[in-house]
Amino acid sequence: MATEQSTSAVTRRTFLQAVGAGSGAGVMFATMGALGLAPTAAAQPRPESWVPPRGSDFSLTGRSAKKVVVVGGGPAGLTTAYELQKAGYRVTVLEARHRVGGRTLTIRGGDTETDTDGVTQKARFADGVYLNAGAGRIAQWMVTMDYLRELGVPYEMFTNANADAYLYNERTGATPGNPVRYRTAKADVFGYTSELLHLATDQGALDQRLTEADKENLRSFLRSWGSLRSDGTYAGGSNRGYAVYPSAWNEHGTPLPGPGSVSEVLASRVGQYFPFEINWEQSMLMFQPKGGMDTTYQYMVRAIGAHNVHLDSPVTGVRTTDRGVTVTYTQHRKQRQLTADFAVVTAPAGLMRGWDTTWGPQVDAALGEFAVGSPAGKIGLQYRSRFWEDDHRIFGGITETDMDLAHIWYPSSGYGERKGLVVGYYNTGTNARTYADLSPREREARAVAQGVKIHGEKYRTELESSFSVAWHKVPYIEGAWAYPDTSSAGFRLLQQGAGNVYFAGDWMSEVSAWQHGALWSARYAVQALHQRVMAS
Ligand code: FAD
Ligand code: ALA
Repeated sequence: MATEQSTSAVTRRTFLQAVGAGSGAGVMFATMGALGLAPTAAAQPRPESWVPPRGSDFSLTGRSAKKVVVVGGGPAGLTTAYELQKAGYRVTVLEARHRVGGRTLTIRGGDTETDTDGVTQKARFADGVYLNAGAGRIAQWMVTMDYLRELGVPYEMFTNANADAYLYNERTGATPGNPVRYRTAKADVFGYTSELLHLATDQGALDQRLTEADKENLRSFLRSWGSLRSDGTYAGGSNRGYAVYPSAWNEHGTPLPGPGSVSEVLASRVGQYFPFEINWEQSMLMFQPKGGMDTTYQYMVRAIGAHNVHLDSPVTGVRTTDRGVTVTYTQHRKQRQLTADFAVVTAPAGLMRGWDTTWGPQVDAALGEFAVGSPAGKIGLQYRSRFWEDDHRIFGGITETDMDLAHIWYPSSGYGERKGLVVGYYNTGTNARTYADLSPREREARAVAQGVKIHGEKYRTELESSFSVAWHKVPYIEGAWAYPDTSSAGFRLLQQGAGNVYFAGDWMSEVSAWQHGALWSARYAVQALHQRVMAS
């Protein structure tokens, strides 16, 4: 078997060498594609096959680098431009908005944003205080980390889970409306579920599934996992945390009251929040660029050259011509055109359908499948003191609630500073629409009234200013994200591009709603485009 494989590999390599010697690398690339050894323009490279285009690809084959217009200055667009330019392509990025970064929007003091309904907010945040209104966290396995490192962007830990953050359900349980710390909730939920499973094991309910040895291993695990007593029952313990923590000289600590009964703990439904911590996208460790998520893209613009990135330049047309592409856009109220060999379009799929294009109704229909439009919203609440750290001993992490604010994020930076910013709501769907329909001041009042239930009056009295973003009202974005059906024919059609146009964006990925997806979609588009150039 081994011999057969290596024989066939040698035969193929020899064949390719012969083709390469006689016909140039372009034909060799195409032939490799036909043999299944190199992806064709439409094929999908595996992540491990990502080979960035290099300048030598041109110099060694006598080709001249091509010109590419990139539509959109968000993560996908800037990464496309960055990777192409590293290889010598001439790139121009056209961004519709007044800033780059797209949905990695960082709001700092002095920033102004106007929604599609004409409402303008100006951030009155102090120096160093910022709101990541869109992207906020990066899992350590994500390709986003690779770009931070390559670009030299300073980054720090993002605390996505904290044992001392709260869970707050006011619609369920025997005593609704009592904030409970994660560690307490976990101890009780793990404790009682362990007790029940221990009991079921003892009573023979699992005899059909488990051997005697399995049962003993399970009981041993449950006693430890659930902090059970030797008789297999749960009665609380130090894992719940303390009202007063142990210190010295026989101060053993004051236990928290509880636990409640098994029925009370189940009825509180706090356990529903636990899977988040082991979610493949959300589990720790996580990171954030220092100073705000869009810092990454400011570094990228510097690498690309600011003169190659045009702001306030909304594109209205992309047409394939017999020489390449013509891209129409508006700048300073004047319509302008750029011609290039290729275009890579990274605007939200749903917004492109009104453009003047040559890609035809099938592509338009496919784009329609991925229309971004789902709402999400965040508010940044700047406080004059960091009472969540001083009084609640919460240094980062997230409080989960069943109120319409959904999540409260505590900052993962600025420790030791006087002021700080809490994300006072981060919600999606109906909850996001509820807040989006309010004025910025009303959003603040609603979020604060809910937060007071958890943190007390300081949540109101220490507040200095706020800034809120409703993503379906942000011009040229008009939605938080789209989860594409990646098995659809439309999705496959868009991967092939249309004429000299390629598509990228997190909506063109398997990991939508994450920069990781956007960055990989950029790599795939770059790879497909470059292979096309090398095959020409
Ligand atoms: P975008 O960021 O949307 O960029 C598209 C760009 O195209 C925009 O700048 C837009 O202005 C521009 N554009 C649109 N129309 C035109 C036009 N006609 N002409 C020219 N330009 C145009 N990701 C994470 O990694 N971690 C997170 O924690 C995270 N949290 C998120 C939370 C929220 C609330 C949101 C909304 C997003 C979050 N994301 C997160 C997702 C992340 O922000 C996106 O995946 C990423 O920004 C997608 O990049 P993109 O380039 O595909 O699209
Ligand atoms: N990726 C987005 C987040 O983590 C949805 O909040």
